[in-house]
Order: sequence, then structure tokens, then C-alpha cells
Amino acid sequence: MSRLIHSRSSLSRIYSLAASRNGRFLSTVSNNVDEPFKVEEAETVNVPPPTEKLLVLGGNGFVGSNICKEALDRGLSVASLSRSGRSSIQESWANSVIWHQGNLLSAGSWEEALSGVTAVISCVGGFGSNSYMYKINGTANINAIRAAAEQDIKKFVYISAADFGLANYLLKGYYEGKRAAETELLTRFPYGGVILRPGFIYGTRRVGSMKLPLGVIGSPLEMILKHAKSLSQVPLVGPLFIPPVNVTSVAKVAVRGATDPVFPPGIIDVYGIQRYSQQKSA
Ligand SMILES: NC(=O)c1ccc[n+]([C@@H]2O[C@H](COP(=O)([O-])OP(=O)(O)OC[C@H]3O[C@@H](n4cnc5c(N)ncnc54)[C@H](OP(=O)(O)O)[C@@H]3O)[C@@H](O)[C@H]2O)c1
Repeated sequence: MSRLIHSRSSLSRIYSLAASRNGRFLSTVSNNVDEPFKVEEAETVNVPPPTEKLLVLGGNGFVGSNICKEALDRGLSVASLSRSGRSSIQESWANSVIWHQGNLLSAGSWEEALSGVTAVISCVGGFGSNSYMYKINGTANINAIRAAAEQDIKKFVYISAADFGLANYLLKGYYEGKRAAETELLTRFPYGGVILRPGFIYGTRRVGSMKLPLGVIGSPLEMILKHAKSLSQVPLVGPLFIPPVNVTSVAKVAVRGATDPVFPPGIIDVYGIQRYSQQKSA
């Protein structure tokens, strides 16, 4: 990108020329107007593209850490916010993340993390009692969505969850919280809000110092079930056939949703996540 810089005197000449053409200075006294216009100094300045800064809410969790890694690989500046702050992850990429500590449920403890941010991805969610699940999946994310909208941040991606039939009833607080956060996102970010609804997400999950290879079950199931979309629509048992999805696919689509200006806003189901993750992004 380049632009021409004109000297102050040539600019003032442009203004007086324009003004005279508008008939405001029709004086014969000034001879400025008659001078042929010439640019005295012009130089080309290279303006670097604006840097994108991504804030990952819950960047030290299973999905969040994969999103941080993916965003760093794409050259973005990455920050994370969570209650425990700096991750205990020892891998070298973790040194490139700015780690903030804060609780989305307590106002005043985390909003500074939004400063200079161009896009937010929220991986905040969890399980517990119904009221806890509503708070962590719903209220915490609603707080984040509102604060990001107030800061005029253009893109917000929320990692939600696919409907699971009977589980929706057993985990009432979880699903009610997810849907309440989705509604808030669609309202506050009609053009830049992206909701991912994966079923089971597999990959290597860290539990303390142990690494659980969830792909051992997830990967073959994904292979089988991704061709059985019609089964997932069968009432009651259908949701059991929703294919699991790899955590790296979720991370890829989340980062694309947060940074690609033409990525469509709205809800993306498991099949959409699989499809977008296989496309080459710009
Ligand atoms: N894993 C799956 O199979 C799966 C499937 C479908 C949907 N999802 C959804 O995907 C999202 C990520 O899942 P995950 O498996 O990566 O969960 P996770 O590992 O438990 O990560 C949750 C993250 O949220 C942070 N967090 C929790 N409460 C917070 C609060 N009040 N303020 C700030 N940060 C908070 C946690 O960090 P601290 O504890 O340090 O705060 C953690 O980094 C969740 O919304 C989940 O519902 C997951």
C-alpha cells in the first residue's frame, strides 16, 4: 500500500485553487491562483497492514490452547484470558502468548484484556450444577460479548455445542447457557458473530501432567459418522450419530471465522466445521 505525501505549501495551494473554483476568492489581487499547480515534494511511504490481535477467552484450555497455536502459526498477535492466567503448558509456543488473569463473572477483573484487540474467540464453558453451567456457558460469555461490542470489536467467535437430544434435558443449564450466549452474540454481532456447534471434540487433552489421546476413539468415529448425516436427523437417537470433530479442525475454523472478512456470520454445525477446515484459507 502506498500513498503520496504532499508538502504543506502545495496542499495550501490545492485548497486555494479549489476555493477559487468555488467562487469564494474571485480576486484579481492574488496571483497564486494563476500559477500552474506542481507537487514540490512527493514520497512513497510503505504502510504495513494493521496487525490483528486476537484474544482467546479460555486460551489455556483444551480447545483454547489449540486455537492459540493455530493463530500464532498464522502470524497473529495472541492473548489469552482465564481465571488461572498463565498456562502451565511447557511447549515453546506458549511463550508467545500474552496471558491475562481474570474472571468473566466478576466485572472489573478482566476488561483491560480487550484493549487493542481486533477479534475475540471464546472457549469458556464447563460442567457442574445446572446453575453453575448456566453461568459459565451463558452469563460469562454474555458479559464478554457485551464488553467486546462496547469496545467496537468487529469479530466474535463463540465455541458452543451441538444439540444432543436427551443430553439437552439432563444438562439443562449447559444448553440453556449456550443458547442464551448464542442469542446475545447474534444480536450484538449480526455481521461479525460466528457460532461453532461441534459435538464431541477429540485431540490430545492435558489432564494435569497426563496427556489423554482422545483421538483413539474420536478419529475412527469421525471417519464413519461423517458420511451418515441423515442418521443424525433421526428423532431421539439421531444426535448419537453426530460425528466427533478433531480439535485442530475446530481451531482452524475458529481462527478463520475471527479473521477472514468474508467468513459468513451465524451458526456453523459439525458438518460445516468439517467442510471449512478442509478449505484452503486466504
Ligand atoms: N471438549 C469438547 O468435546 C467440547 C464439545 C463441544 C463443545 N465444547 C465447548 O468448547 C469450549 C471449550 O471446551 P474445552 O473442552 O476446551 O474446555 P476446557 O478445557 O475446560 O476450557 C475452558 C476454559 O475456560 C476458562 N474459564 C472457565 N471459567 C472461566 C471464567 N469464569 N472466566 C474466564 N475463563 C474461564 C478455563 O480456564 P480457567 O479454569 O483457568 O479459568 C479454560 O481455559 C466450551 O465452551 C465447551 O462447552 C467442548
